[in-house]
Formats: sequence, structure tokens, C-alpha cells
Amino acid sequence: MYVCLCQGVTDHQLRAAVDSGCGSYKEVRLKTGVASQCGKCACQAKQIVRDALADMTFDFSLAYPAEGVAA
Ligand code: FES
Repeated sequence: MYVCLCQGVTDHQLRAAVDSGCGSYKEVRLKTGVASQCGKCACQAKQIVRDALADMTFDFSLAYPAEGVAA
């Protein structure tokens, strides 16, 4: 659904921005242009970004090599 009518930004685009590496609402706003005109969509956009960031999971098993594995 469209979140920002001024810039034509959808909730899918906001989630995709988070998936592509944006780690904050500010970064998503810079990438998508959401809430950069009238600003009426800002609260909803922030909530969507917050939810998307909370849904992100980090696989810690990839961050550290398993014990006993020769490098
Ligand atoms: S509706 Fe998003 S800036 Fe106006």
C-alpha cells in the first residue's frame, strides 16, 4: 500500500530498503524520499521501518567460526 502519496512510496519499498541495508529511519528516508515533502506520512513510515528493523534477524553462526574448525 502507498504510505507516502507525495513521493509515491509504498510499505514494500520501505521494507525493501531495510532489507537492502538501511539501518535507520533516516537512511530509509534518504533512500526512498518518504516524508520529504508534506511529512504527513512520517509517523506511519517510521512505524513500518521500526517493525522491519525489529523483524530482521542476524545469524550469529556466520559471525564466528565454529570451534574446532581449522582455519
Ligand atoms: S505523504 Fe509523504 S511527504 Fe507527503
